[in-house]
Amino acid sequence: CGITAYRGPAAAASRARSALERLEYRGYDSAGIAARRPDGSTLHARTLSGVAALAVVTGEQTTDATTAAIGHTRWATHGEVSEANAHPLEDCSGRLYVVHNGIVDNADALRAQLVAAGHRFATGVDSEVIVHLIEQAQRPGVGLGDALAEATGQLSGSWAVVALDARTGALAATAHGSPLIYAEAADGAYLASDVGAVAPEVAQFRVLEDDDVVEVDAAGTRWHRAGGSCRPRGLWPVPRTALLASTGRHRDHMGNEIDEQPVVARRVLEALAPGIVDGSLWRGLGLPSLDTIDRVTVVGCGTSLHAGRALAGVFARLGGLPTRTLVASEAAHEVWEPRTLVIAMSQSGETADVLRALDALPPRHGTVLALTNNPSSTLARRSDAVIDCLAGPEVGVAATKTFVAQVLTGVCVALSGLSVFDRTDSARLGADLRALAATPDGLAAALDAWRGPCAQLATEYARASGFLFLGRGAGLVYAAEGALKLKELSYRWAEAYPAGELKHGPLALVDAGTPVFVVDNGDPRLDVDIAEVTARGGRVIRFGERVLTVGGVPLHLPRTGPSWGPLETVVPLQLFARELALRLHRDVDKPRNLAKSVTVS
Ligand code: G6P
Repeated sequence: CGITAYRGPAAAASRARSALERLEYRGYDSAGIAARRPDGSTLHARTLSGVAALAVVTGEQTTDATTAAIGHTRWATHGEVSEANAHPLEDCSGRLYVVHNGIVDNADALRAQLVAAGHRFATGVDSEVIVHLIEQAQRPGVGLGDALAEATGQLSGSWAVVALDARTGALAATAHGSPLIYAEAADGAYLASDVGAVAPEVAQFRVLEDDDVVEVDAAGTRWHRAGGSCRPRGLWPVPRTALLASTGRHRDHMGNEIDEQPVVARRVLEALAPGIVDGSLWRGLGLPSLDTIDRVTVVGCGTSLHAGRALAGVFARLGGLPTRTLVASEAAHEVWEPRTLVIAMSQSGETADVLRALDALPPRHGTVLALTNNPSSTLARRSDAVIDCLAGPEVGVAATKTFVAQVLTGVCVALSGLSVFDRTDSARLGADLRALAATPDGLAAALDAWRGPCAQLATEYARASGFLFLGRGAGLVYAAEGALKLKELSYRWAEAYPAGELKHGPLALVDAGTPVFVVDNGDPRLDVDIAEVTARGGRVIRFGERVLTVGGVPLHLPRTGPSWGPLETVVPLQLFARELALRLHRDVDKPRNLAKSVTVS
């Protein structure tokens, strides 16, 4: 979910709404706004049709005398997707409005208490207890900020909350385990889940620490927290990556972001490759000597997890270090050993599962390196070292260029560490360095070569109900990423398997014409796996060096061999997933049920 709020002399609803447009990637199940009009009445509008529709719902009222407003875009967790369940939620008197991001774990118990005390609930969502708790806490002499602190003091779970007192136009905000930032523009104050919401309006911002309370009212802005006052938190510059991109020549952001990958790769290598061989990249990050590290554990979710698997391959194949790749939401169930380098991968840096994984680390577990596209994110602030993957703003919910940027950034860091601590022989390192330098051109060649064939393949397979993706060794992670892209975008079943595992079960799925995508990293045993498929009538589409023909055209792509595997194969897999989704009339930038940054665990 995404939260915005604004208080200033005029046009508050419009400002909160346009900030919300930039947060829609956080969820688009519903959107809503509440704003104070100068006569003390309230503008309260909600819609299931996206933030753009809010402008229509609120009509001229947003052009705009309102002086304080809160907005929300929702990714549903508790309670169905409906207008009634959309935020902002209001109290019994229609005076208080609340937007919430997070999950209230003890909502049922609190709701029972509040109902017994006479509160009437309008929705089934956990967040509604917050507005009633604030209402209950507001007594003469208790300001909005104190009432909010008293209310959230009764919650367990995670929250970023902004409350609006529609009668006075006061705003109060607090957060606990969910991000919230405060920023001042020339003529007003903003609150938002993410700096991207306000990046065009402000140059600097502050991040609320857990349980800080920020009050914005006619007297100005005050920061406090339970047990006394606190000073405003430090200022961060708005990162370049927070500014939204255009769709370029494409109708969707995803098409443009796929095309940008060679440029992104070049940017990463220009910034980081010079620090590989002399180890300055590793040392400059303040990372410890590899002599003090026994293993590398990578944690992440979704596409970032796949990028982490590619990176782990470098430490393992080239450096001989034991590595583990962990689904972040499973981290609490793992045994953690000391002398571990933990690499936390998250393009947003706000994924709650990744942040919870850090909570699961025991004391003295070792160093945490955050690899993120958002160096001012919660993950970055909580890690020992941070590296920016320099992808630039990515709007499409299904990650593409951040995947390539994360792999290459991680590869540069790993190669730098392995080379400075002499963990690899020079021939293997040299081969990897040459492969790395050739990657931008390899990605560009993959785009040129596969754009047409992928469109053709998508037409051919538009009616296929399921897809298999196979790979071996370093190719497997790209097969997994290809299957994930296809699921996310087309809503068709797609499963990735180690190709050798096919005969132990998944082969039963293969029938005449079943599409089976194979990521070819040059492993000769793939020929046997492929033969097993074709013998059952399956249709193999093979991506890799020794390839192959599509529609009678031979395609020579990409090289194999680097320790992170055939990265370029992700390009045709992304292209195919997008082309198929477009033929199925899916919204490729906003796949159903998903959000770009999932800030609940
Ligand atoms: C969500 C998105 C995925 C993404 C994952 C991790 O589930 O839908 O596309 O890969 O989060 O996001 P992160 O910001 O941590 O990389």
